[in-house]
Amino acid sequence: MIVAASIVDLFERQGREIQLRDGVSQREHALQAAALAEAEGAAPPLVLAALLHDIGHLLAQACDGADAHRKSALPHEQIGAGWLAPLFGPAITEPVRLHVEAKRYLCALEPGYAKQFPEASLQRLAIQGGPLTRSEIRDFQENPYHRAAVWLRRIDDRACDVSRVQVPGFEHYGERLEAALVSRRLALETACRRGRLAGAGYCQPC
Ligand SMILES: [Fe+2]
Ligand SMILES: [Fe+2]
Repeated sequence: MIVAASIVDLFERQGREIQLRDGVSQREHALQAAALAEAEGAAPPLVLAALLHDIGHLLAQACDGADAHRKSALPHEQIGAGWLAPLFGPAITEPVRLHVEAKRYLCALEPGYAKQFPEASLQRLAIQGGPLTRSEIRDFQENPYHRAAVWLRRIDDRACDVSRVQVPGFEHYGERLEAALVSRRLALETACRRGRLAGAGYCQPC
């Protein structure tokens, strides 16, 4: 309950402060992405991945101030996935971690894909490494969550629409957030009891 409320509070506070293109904030971007995922029949974990995919930007800003995500040594998808990993299962955290790599993957495979991006996004793509190489494509495809990451990416690309204001708020996802948190906690406790996480730093609270 407290964790879910803290996540929502982060989006409500920091998310409103970070503006994306066309005056859409990170808060609105998250809600648009989750609404698109739900409308297109995504499984519950992918709906939550869509909601949380850019949490790394918010965490960086909450810790270090407005320019933090530019100063941070880690890219936002790794900050976000790393923070979420003890709280949610890989069906949520892996698409979050891979959503930038999925963009690079689509740039490599679909010649027209990058044409939708404005100049600033193309510059960011170059900094992120540009299209994946052949060996990077193979590595990406070996990840069992790569299709989910591509789905999330295509949603991400459309979730910055100033005309799409009628989307559900965070309360719409409250029960699913709680269920995912409980499911992860039970999985970690079970793994702890079986000794699988000994030495990994997870077992101390059990
Ligand atoms: Fe992102
Ligand atoms: Fe995004």
